[in-house]
Amino acid sequence: VSGPVISPLALVDGDLGDGCTVEAFAVIGAGATLGPRCRVAVGAVVGAGARLGAGCVLHPHAVVSDAVELGDGVEVFPAGLVGRVPKGAGATAREPDVSGHLRIGNGCSIGSHATVYYGVEIGAETLIGEAASIREGGRIGSRCIVSRCVTLNYDVHLGNGVKIMDNTHITGGTWIGDGAFVSTMVATANDNSPTEPFSERVVGPRIEPGAVIGAGATLLPGVRIGARAVVGAGAVVTRDVADGVTVTGVPARPIHRG
Ligand SMILES: CC(C)(COP(=O)(O)OP(=O)(O)OC[C@H]1O[C@@H](n2cnc3c(N)ncnc32)[C@H](O)[C@@H]1OP(=O)(O)O)[C@@H](O)C(=O)NCCC(=O)NCCS
Repeated sequence: VSGPVISPLALVDGDLGDGCTVEAFAVIGAGATLGPRCRVAVGAVVGAGARLGAGCVLHPHAVVSDAVELGDGVEVFPAGLVGRVPKGAGATAREPDVSGHLRIGNGCSIGSHATVYYGVEIGAETLIGEAASIREGGRIGSRCIVSRCVTLNYDVHLGNGVKIMDNTHITGGTWIGDGAFVSTMVATANDNSPTEPFSERVVGPRIEPGAVIGAGATLLPGVRIGARAVVGAGAVVTRDVADGVTVTGVPARPIHRG
C-alpha cells in the first residue's frame, strides 16, 4: 500500500491514511484525519478536526467543515457544503440551535450545492440530491432519498427508507416514519399564526410509516397521516387521516368509490 499522494499546491495539516490523494488548492485543516484511499479534489476543503472514513471522495470545491464526521465511502459532489453553522441573522422568529455535531453514515452521497447544517445526523446509504438543504436538528435514517432541491427545515425526523421527491418542502418539527413516500412539490406547514412570536403552537405534520403523499399536496400544521394512508395529488389536508385511508380534494376527504 502506498502512502498519500499530495499535490505541492495543496495545504495539508492533517493526518492522511495510505492511498489518499490530495489535489491542487485543496486544504486540509489541523487535526483532521482521513482514512485510507480518500480523494480530496481540486479546491476542496476539509476543516480542522474533521474525521473522514475510508474511501471518501470530495469532488472539486466540496467543503466538509470543522469537526464533521463522515463514515466510509461518503461522496460529496462539487460545491456540496457539509457543516453549515445555523445563523438567524436576527431575522428569524426562532433562535437557531448552533450547538450540534454533524455525522454522516457510511456510503452516503451528498449532491452538488447541497447544504447540510451542523446538528444533523444521517444514517448509512442515504442519498441527498443536488441543492437540497437540511437544517439543524435533522435526524435522517438509512437508505433514504432526499431528492433535488428538497428543503428540510429544523428538527425534521425521517425514519429509514423514506423517499422525498424533488422540490418538496418539509417544515420544522415534521416527523416521517419508515418507508413513507412524499412526492414532488408537496408543501407542509407548522404554524397557523406565523406573524406571532414562535411558541409551542408551532407543530409540524406527522406522517406514519408507509404513507404516501401525492404530488402537490399540502399538509396543514399538526395533521397526522396514518400508516399506509394515501393523500391524493393536490389535496389540502386539514384534519387527521386514519391508517390505510385514501383522501383527495380541497379540503381532503376520504375518496368515494363507485
Ligand atoms: C388518490 C389516488 C391514489 C386515487 O387513485 P385511484 O384509487 O386509482 O382512484 P380513481 O382514479 O379511480 O379515482 C376515484 C375518484 O376520485 C377522484 N380522484 C382521484 N384522484 C383525485 C385527486 N388527486 N384529487 C381529486 N379527485 C381525485 C377521481 O376523479 C374519481 O372520481 P369519480 O369517481 O367522481 O370520477 C390517485 O388519484 C392520486 O392522486 N395519486 C397520486 C399520484 C402521485 O402523486 N404519485 C406520486 C408518485 S409519482
